[in-house]
Amino acid sequence: MPKIEMTVNGKAVSVDVEPGDLLANVLRDKLGLIGTKIACGEGECGCCTVLVDGVSVTSCIFPAFKAAGREVLTIEGLSEDDQLDPIQEAFKEKAAAQCGYCTPGMIMSAKALLNENPHPTTEEIEQGISGNLCRCTGYYQIVQAITMAARHMAEKGGAS
Ligand code: FES
Ligand code: FES
Repeated sequence: MPKIEMTVNGKAVSVDVEPGDLLANVLRDKLGLIGTKIACGEGECGCCTVLVDGVSVTSCIFPAFKAAGREVLTIEGLSEDDQLDPIQEAFKEKAAAQCGYCTPGMIMSAKALLNENPHPTTEEIEQGISGNLCRCTGYYQIVQAITMAARHMAEKGGAS
């Protein structure tokens, strides 16, 4: 079975992958990173969103071999030493974290958005999470949480 090397949450890993393996399955089943959820399995709902080289991808349709030599960030890689990422903090504070399927993907999409655009408008936030489908609520608190996270990150000098 071919092996690929990649960096996952800052750590170099070497993992066996079959040609048809998808990144979401490799992360969950071979690396034990079950924070990434698989719901639709068709690239439609955003639950499986992770970042590859800082850009969001739906890992349920992303061939694992395409991650070779690249940096993958999953929800498990956001907190450090039990210190939540500002986006996670804001989701907690605004009560925006809802079901366990959608929330990791929402947070990872927010991370990708703020990487690219540290000062998004409300419309840009709505656009940034438009690929993450939630069937249980409106997006009001989620948009508020991302707005708050952007502000906190800017205050801490994490964004300019
Ligand atoms: S599980 Fe990947 S987009 Fe729905
Ligand atoms: S948060 Fe998961 S369906 Fe709404």
